[in-house]
Amino acid sequence: MSDYEPLIAPKVTENIAVYPGTFDPITRGHLDIIQRALHLFDRVVVAIAVNASKNPLFSLEERKQMILDCFPRDESRIEVDSVEGLLVDYAYRKGAKAIVRGLRAVSDFDYEFQLALMNRRIEREVETVFLMTGFRWIYISSSIIKEAARHGGDVSGLVPDHVCEKLRHAYMGNGQ
Ligand code: COA
Repeated sequence: MSDYEPLIAPKVTENIAVYPGTFDPITRGHLDIIQRALHLFDRVVVAIAVNASKNPLFSLEERKQMILDCFPRDESRIEVDSVEGLLVDYAYRKGAKAIVRGLRAVSDFDYEFQLALMNRRIEREVETVFLMTGFRWIYISSSIIKEAARHGGDVSGLVPDHVCEKLRHAYMGNGQ
């Protein structure tokens, strides 16, 4: 098949999106993207990436539980999973049509562009869909929230209450 031949997507019964990230921890910015994705897709798989280059504060299980606790028990349109290895392979296996990524600022673009093109090169049947983060969340990241919490800063409102509590607990007694 030539590179330029249009690819006819197979008929799927359910439109699934994979929303990957490290989620260390999940923030209201991430939740904003999940909410937007739920308007477009039947089901969203939140995929926690096992990223060797990051040294997460929370274990995989803790991150998974924090994400699950953001949704009512009967929210069947959300699945939380972990992913190791190539993201597009995982998305393909899941039968996902798209990988969802949030864009906060122009500075996100370069990396996201590279990632999306590499993913497309590996697996053409999975598209990347970029969603614009809500204006209120454009400046936050998990790292900056952890940094603030570590020094005793108030991060309520930027993360769900139960995550706020976990952060407080994680940094409790470090004397800062
Ligand atoms: N609101 C708040 N923060 C957001 C955000 C939003 N809407 N969107 C992104 N961020 C923050 C995250 O909190 C994270 O902050 P941190 O660096 O302080 O932890 C940062 O932006 C990076 O975003 P994240 O979505 O967590 O991406 P990542 O860089 O940790 O992971 C993967 C990117 C998982 C998609 C990528 O590494 C991957 O695909 N890995 C699998 C291997 C693979 O297939 N690689 C690509 C082909 S080679």
